[in-house]
Amino acid sequence: GALPLDLFAAIETLKKQLNAVILAHYYQEPDIQDIADFIGDSLQLSKAAADTNADVIVFAGVHFMAETAKILNPDKIVLLPDVNAGCSLADTCPPKEFAEFKAAHPGHLVVSYINCSAEIKAMSDIICTSSNAVKIVQQIPEDVPIIFAPDRNLGRYVMEQTGRDMVLWQGSCIVHETFSEKKIVQLKIAHPEAEAIAHPECEPAVLRHASFIGSTAALLKYCQQSPTQEFIVATEPGIIHQMQKAAPSKHFIPAPPINNCNCNECPFMRLNTLEKLYLAMKNRAPEIRMSEEIRLAALRPIQRMLEMSV
Ligand code: 13P
Ligand code: SF4
Repeated sequence: GALPLDLFAAIETLKKQLNAVILAHYYQEPDIQDIADFIGDSLQLSKAAADTNADVIVFAGVHFMAETAKILNPDKIVLLPDVNAGCSLADTCPPKEFAEFKAAHPGHLVVSYINCSAEIKAMSDIICTSSNAVKIVQQIPEDVPIIFAPDRNLGRYVMEQTGRDMVLWQGSCIVHETFSEKKIVQLKIAHPEAEAIAHPECEPAVLRHASFIGSTAALLKYCQQSPTQEFIVATEPGIIHQMQKAAPSKHFIPAPPINNCNCNECPFMRLNTLEKLYLAMKNRAPEIRMSEEIRLAALRPIQRMLEMSV
C-alpha cells in the first residue's frame, strides 16, 4: 500500500500502538535520529536495551546491535528496519575460523568487540565496546593472556593505552579504513585552528593526527566541552548531526575518504530509512531471532561487560 504522507506522525502512532521504543545509533541518517527515543553509541544502546520496559524494540542500527538487544530481551520483539544492515567488521570474523584461532591459542581469555555476531559472542569471555575497551582490559589480571577480536585497529589502540600485549584477530571496518591521512593533513594546514578527532577503529596513520580518540559518544562530548571551534571528524559523519545540535556555533568537517566518494558513510547503517522503519513497525518484521543455546552463551560475556563498565 501507499506510504502515509507524514511518516513522523505515522511512526509516533505505531509507537503507541505497539508500546515500542526506537533506539538509534549516531550513524543513522538525521531523520531517524530525530524520531528516535534514544540515540547513543554501542554501549549506551546496549544499556538502553537492557533497561527498557517497551514490548517492541525498533533498532535503528546494524544487525549485531539489534542482536545484542535480543540477547538481552528474549521475550521482546526486536525489529531491524533493513535485514541486510550488517557490518563489514563483524563479517571479517566467521565463527568457524574464529573457533580454530581460539583453539590455536589455548588458555587465552577472549575479549570481543561488540561489533561481531552472536556466534562470536558465544565463544567470548567478555564483550567490550569502543567506549569501555581500555577500562575492561585494564581489569584483567596481568598474567592472563588475551585474544582481542575482531578489530585490529581498536586492539592495537587498546594495547598502546594499557601496555598489554594481546593476540589480535586481523579484522577491520571498511568505513574507518577509508580516511585519507594526506587529506586530513591538508585540512589541518588549511584550518590551523581545527582539531582532528577520531574513532579508534581508524588506522594508526589517521589516529596519530588526532588530538582526541574515542567512541562516538566520547567524540560528541569532547566537541561540546573543548574550547575549540572547529573539528575534523574522523568517523562516520552521521554523528555530526548531533555535534551540530549540541554546539550550533561550532564547525564540523567530515574527514574525507581516499576516493571522491561518500564511502565515509557506513553503507550498512545507511540502509535504514524512515520508510523502512515505518514498514518494519507496521509489519512487525524483519524480526531478530536466534537459538536459545546461542543466546544464552552470548548473554554471559555481555553481562560481564555491563558489570565491568558501571
Ligand atoms: P561506537 O561504539 O562508537 O558506537 O562505535 C560503533 C561502530 O560501529 C563504529 O563503527
Ligand atoms: Fe560496522 Fe564499520 Fe559500519 Fe561500524 S561503521 S557498523 S564497524 S561497517
